[in-house]
Amino acid sequence: MAPRLRSPASSLSQPFLRRLPRPACASSQPPPPPQPPQRRYISAYGYEQAKALTFSDYGDPPAVLSLHSHSISPPHGNLMTLRFLASPINPADINQIQGVYPSKPTFTTNLSTPNPIAVAGNEGVAEITALGDRVKSAGYKKGDWVFIKGPGFGTWRTHATATPDQVVRLDDSMREGISAIQAGTVSINPCTAYRMLRDFAALKEGEWFIQNGANSGVGRAAIQLGRKWGYKSINIIRSRDDQAAQDKLKQDLQDLGADVVITDAQLQAQGIKDQAKEWTHNGRDNIRLALNCVNGKAATAMAKLLSSSAHFVTYGAMSKQPLTIPASMLIFKNIHFHGFWVSRWAEKNPEDKQKTVAHVLDMTRKGEFKDTPFDQIAWEWETKGEELIAKVKDTLEGYREGKGVFVFGKT
Ligand SMILES: NC(=O)c1ccc[n+]([C@@H]2O[C@H](COP(=O)([O-])OP(=O)(O)OC[C@H]3O[C@@H](n4cnc5c(N)ncnc54)[C@H](OP(=O)(O)O)[C@@H]3O)[C@@H](O)[C@H]2O)c1
Repeated sequence: MAPRLRSPASSLSQPFLRRLPRPACASSQPPPPPQPPQRRYISAYGYEQAKALTFSDYGDPPAVLSLHSHSISPPHGNLMTLRFLASPINPADINQIQGVYPSKPTFTTNLSTPNPIAVAGNEGVAEITALGDRVKSAGYKKGDWVFIKGPGFGTWRTHATATPDQVVRLDDSMREGISAIQAGTVSINPCTAYRMLRDFAALKEGEWFIQNGANSGVGRAAIQLGRKWGYKSINIIRSRDDQAAQDKLKQDLQDLGADVVITDAQLQAQGIKDQAKEWTHNGRDNIRLALNCVNGKAATAMAKLLSSSAHFVTYGAMSKQPLTIPASMLIFKNIHFHGFWVSRWAEKNPEDKQKTVAHVLDMTRKGEFKDTPFDQIAWEWETKGEELIAKVKDTLEGYREGKGVFVFGKT
């Protein structure tokens, strides 16, 4: 009879788990000799050791996140084991940990805890390291790259168990020439920009769109896609105290293809309407679309520059202010106000989502679509939880030079 495998919970003390560090010595004793680097012990039975940034209660990320270790059983049937390669820190991930995001994570005791916990993070790319028979028969193989299909799965983790319906595989042609970071960040921000530019206003070449948060991942994607499709753009950034840093940021966005870059202070200054006329051939070129992820006064000021019957799409709320719309914009200017959430759109349009991702990756491969600046956060097996959580905390501060991305090394 085949030997029975132990459950992960009952095998916590078995030698395939990392050895725990010895307790700190009492001060009267000599310091311990330097320890060799900790090694992972690989299970003869195929158990995988994993770490994840998890939370059991909603709250401020530095207060509620912790690094949790657990083991993963060998996959069977419809299961596969994933090893993550790159997972970004998006604003929505923070909102989800705070408990203010509409899509909730899965709280579970499956990760060997007495109380339910959830793994943070919603976007990322992973490779398949082991797979059950049914996953093999469905055509998946070891080494395939997959990204996570929808929110709530938990991507700030070294490894996970998944079923095929939770992932989307990048076939070999899609993966060619694409880095893990590019694959791990393509499914939310570029898709959001792509769909908002395409699905609301049917812009013609030479027509304008205006957007705030223009230096965000979504904003930079919109600039590049708009340029490729012949649309002109007015881009609003927040003012910087450091004039040189502000000038550099404006230049960066212009290099991506932005036609006009102004600060939120310039947008709200007198004379902006005359300036907008100058940019748009005395108002003859229409500004037919606005993309808003900020709200507050700056968003209302942006709406005032739109042509009649234009579309105003809200997809974020970075300022935490409400969006205030003068009634005249609805009654006399006939501005159409919309909201957009890429998760809902992708759920309803899974094939279009695949096509959108494939198109962006194709542009990336050809050098037509540039990465947003990244702050790469190395996550090795030995990386301490405090270091990872400090990086999440950094994300809460504005005026950053790059989006945080966990890049997994030897995990
Ligand atoms: N609805 C959807 O489907 C969807 C999909 C993707 C993203 N989003 C939303 O889109 C927005 C941008 O996401 P991202 O991942 O592209 O962002 P990101 O690359 O992380 O950049 C964050 C952006 O937010 C700005 N910002 C930060 N704090 C701000 C504040 N208090 N007031 C005004 N602006 C502030 C930053 O400007 P500074 O550089 O000046 O700090 C930067 O432009 C977020 O609201 C996100 O939730 C929505």
